Amino acid sequence: MRKTIIAGNWKMYKTIKEAIELTTGLKREFFKLDFAKVDVVVCPVFTALSEVSEVLNETGIGLGAQNVYWKEEGAFTGEVSPAMLKDAGCQYVIIGHSERRQFFGETNESVNNKIKAALKVELTPIICVGENLSQRESNNTFKVIEDQIKNSLADISPEDMLKTVIAYEPVWAIGTGKTATPAQAQEVHAYIRGLLKALFGAEVSSSLRIQYGGSVKPENITELMNQPDVDGALVGGASLKVDSFSAIVTKASEVKK
Ligand code: PGA
Repeated sequence: MRKTIIAGNWKMYKTIKEAIELTTGLKREFFKLDFAKVDVVVCPVFTALSEVSEVLNETGIGLGAQNVYWKEEGAFTGEVSPAMLKDAGCQYVIIGHSERRQFFGETNESVNNKIKAALKVELTPIICVGENLSQRESNNTFKVIEDQIKNSLADISPEDMLKTVIAYEPVWAIGTGKTATPAQAQEVHAYIRGLLKALFGAEVSSSLRIQYGGSVKPENITELMNQPDVDGALVGGASLKVDSFSAIVTKASEVKK
């Protein structure tokens, strides 16, 4: 059985003070949450990581960053290394989010380097894949996903793959209010699982958690989670408020698989 994992991607929102407020609110809401049923992760901006880490201390809520560079240290102005994220209190890092691919030139090759570097210091990568609208409309969804999965995950061992999480985020559903239907999500999740089986074997395919992302909200989380291959969610907009994020987590934790 795969344990549900819900992660909040706060994107470029929240000052340190606001991040602390949101974290404190979540901590209060999740005081009685059964963390045996669900992993919860929040991913603030770099500047708020250490302070959020202090607030999260021993709550059971995990901390993730939204990006990382693959070198250990050096003359790389503006970048942050995997060990530095660990130092700030992170256990997770989002890698290859579509906004990074779209606006910051991230490629499957850079995503691959980042995953390997994160795994080296035992950070759990949340690896994002997903097609854009024109790719979907031209019936290229599976081809795009196959290309992203094969190349982003090149030369990673099955053993290491077991330490990762994949997020399927159709770009056309991110921040648009348009969620993929549960059937559309399930179709691609099952396809990804099939690819994982061919590339890494049956154990990885059956154990690796695949989150859905793209306009997830309290109103649609249950039907998404009801799909057999949807193991959680990567939540943007709705993770910025205590009420909506805690409702998503609670509802997701109640879905019996
Ligand atoms: P959204 O973002 O929930 O606001 O659509 C999801 C994401 O980008 O991870």
